[in-house]
Amino acid sequence: MILLEQVQKTYHIGDLAIPALRNIDLRIERGEFVAIRGASGSGKTTLLNLVGCLDAIEQGSYRLADTRVDQADDDQLAAIRNKHIGFVFQLFNLIPRINALRNVELPMIYAGIPPEERRRRALKALQRVELEDRGLHNPRQLSGGQQQRVAIARALVNDPPLLVADEPTGSLDSKTGQEIMKVFENLNQSGVTIVMVTHEAEVAAYAQRTVWLRDGAIVSDRVDQ
Ligand SMILES: Nc1ncnc2c1ncn2[C@@H]1O[C@H](COP(=O)(O)OP(=O)(O)OP(=O)(O)O)[C@@H](O)[C@H]1O
Ligand SMILES: [Mg+2]
Repeated sequence: MILLEQVQKTYHIGDLAIPALRNIDLRIERGEFVAIRGASGSGKTTLLNLVGCLDAIEQGSYRLADTRVDQADDDQLAAIRNKHIGFVFQLFNLIPRINALRNVELPMIYAGIPPEERRRRALKALQRVELEDRGLHNPRQLSGGQQQRVAIARALVNDPPLLVADEPTGSLDSKTGQEIMKVFENLNQSGVTIVMVTHEAEVAAYAQRTVWLRDGAIVSDRVDQ
C-alpha cells in the first residue's frame, strides 16, 4: 500500500540546510499497524507528514495505493489525502466552537456530501468510537480521551483505508491512552492500515511492527513478537 524508495528530506532556513530524512526505504502492506519511534528530532513527524501526503516528496519516490505521490502537485495531494487518508494528532485539532457532530461532519463538507448523508455518517462514526451520546457537546465539554475519539471519528468519516497518527496519546494520561489504542486496535482489525508515531513503549506495543529512526535514517524495522 505504501512504498517509499530512497526518500530524502532537507529543510532550508535561509542558507542553512537541515537534513531531516536520509535514504528512507519503507514498504507497508495493507492492513498493517506500524509504530514509528526514535528520539526527539530523529525525523518521525517529517516521515509521517510525507506518508500522509501533507508534505510533497522532493527527492525519491512514493507510491500510495498505486498512485504516484511524488509527481503530484498541491491539488492532487489534497485529493489523495481526501480519498485515502485520515489524520489524528496529539492536540486533537478539533474546532472549539462547534459540537462533536459538526466537527465530524467537516471532512464531508469538503468532500461535497449532502447534509442528511453527512449527519447519518457522522453519527455512525461517533458510534464506532462509542461516543454517540456526546454528539451535541463542544470539545470543551469533553474529556481529553473523548476529544481524541471525536478526532478519530472525524478521521474515519470518509472511510479512508489509511490512518496516520502523530503522538495520538501524547496529551493523555496512560489509562486514557490505552483506551485510544484499543480503538486503534479495533479499527486495524476492521482493515484500516495504521501508521503511528509514538514515544511510549506501551503504546507502540499495540502495533505489530516498529520502525526506529535515528538522525533521519531507519536503523531498525522489525515485526514485534
Ligand atoms: N519546518 C521545519 N524547518 C526546519 N527544520 C525542521 C522543520 N521541522 C523539523 N525540522 C528539523 O528536522 C528534524 C526532524 O524533525 P521532526 O519534527 O521530524 O522530529 P521528530 O522525530 O518528530 O521529533 P519529536 O519527537 O520532538 O516530535 C529536526 O532536526 C528538526 O529540528
Ligand atoms: Mg514529532
